[in-house]
Amino acid sequence: MYRVVFPLRRTGVRLAKWSEQSLVTPSCLTLHSGSKPVRQQQLLGSDETIRKFHISSPYQHTEGNKVSVSGSRSDNVKISSDRISLKYGEFEMELLFVWLRDHCRCNTCYSHDTNQRNVQSQKLFTGETPSSVEFDGLVLGISWPDGHVTSYDINWLVNNVYHNHHTDHVDKVLWDKETIESAGLPTVHFREYMDSDEGLWKHLNNLVKFGFSIVTEAPPVHHMGTLEVATRICFKQETHFGPDWTFTSNNERGDTAYSDLYLGAHTDNTYFTSPSGIQVFHVLEHDGEGGQTLMVDGQHCAEQLRSKYPAKFDLLTRTIIPHEYYEEKLRVRSLGTVLSVHPTTGQFLQIRYNPYDRSPLYTVHPDDQQAFYQAYEALTQEVRNQENELWIKLKAGMVLFVDNWRVMHGRASFTGRRLVSGCYLPRDDWISKARVMGLMNL
Ligand SMILES: [Fe+2]
Ligand SMILES: [Zn+2]
Repeated sequence: MYRVVFPLRRTGVRLAKWSEQSLVTPSCLTLHSGSKPVRQQQLLGSDETIRKFHISSPYQHTEGNKVSVSGSRSDNVKISSDRISLKYGEFEMELLFVWLRDHCRCNTCYSHDTNQRNVQSQKLFTGETPSSVEFDGLVLGISWPDGHVTSYDINWLVNNVYHNHHTDHVDKVLWDKETIESAGLPTVHFREYMDSDEGLWKHLNNLVKFGFSIVTEAPPVHHMGTLEVATRICFKQETHFGPDWTFTSNNERGDTAYSDLYLGAHTDNTYFTSPSGIQVFHVLEHDGEGGQTLMVDGQHCAEQLRSKYPAKFDLLTRTIIPHEYYEEKLRVRSLGTVLSVHPTTGQFLQIRYNPYDRSPLYTVHPDDQQAFYQAYEALTQEVRNQENELWIKLKAGMVLFVDNWRVMHGRASFTGRRLVSGCYLPRDDWISKARVMGLMNL
């Protein structure tokens, strides 16, 4: 069975019921300390490591203001001129009136049938002071002067207020050659994967944890079989290579992938505004030598860079560079950073690394170019470090899925005919599936 951690229903009415069933979500949350995700429970109370919702105690109803505060846990509520400070277990939240009003979940402000805001009816950004506040430890109830009444489930608040803690549900394994070889390749058997939720969960769990996963023993192989395996997660992402592809080394397209040359570790589609989420590879035939598949964990490389050279890491999260894909009738070009991090947690989000497809560097001021090249070079050292390289020989029946926002791929040069089948899957949709299965929160 897979675990759905936060099946949050954003309804005032249903929230109370949900609260009774699931008292303490915070144990599921993890905080991020430096580059390592650490269980939140281990960190709480440590001033050095915890990054709190920055508010000081005591949490008591402030005498003298006009808002009436009631409820069995009203002493956890403090009202000031523009906000409610709320304490729940170890969580300390600052809830601005304007934010609370913006998130009013009453039936006028929010449709619980479509899970969408009713924007017309909302009176936004006024910073209006509530007329009364009630907190029983599970639900924060607020009455507003114009008659709106809102109930905020405490779990919903914990998961949706501004936060700077790590909230992934799966502890990722950042790997180098040794780590991944001793952990063993993340695999799932074809039948288990195709026939059960557990199998799909296992595959997605591998993808979130390691950035790749292999479906093994897929039946006698043909291109359509690859696609069946691929679309078990979600629909394909069509690109200028078509809805999906089989390719040999015939140099048919303007891309090194269509040759028999060595290909260094890279991510695909760096020339798209949003590169595809997963690349699916299936080597259907190969009658020669070489052609091993290379994988390098981009998140591991990025974290290595962050710990050795924080300023270089930071520069690569801020410097926007172009990538391009040109053919006679194609001029695809994107602008983006080589590394991306979550805006509040600083957690790694994406690597966009493809030295083959970098455009002329017209976006970086000459005064900043030296620093950019030094930072890119330092990252490249990590990418090319043989200790970070995993080489595997794919065979027919092994369908490899690679998280194209995290793990880089490449291949050794080869001889003979090598027929590869595959497609891309869109980022938003595979992540959506991972969220539905309780594997991610970001
Ligand atoms: Fe590629
Ligand atoms: Zn409302």
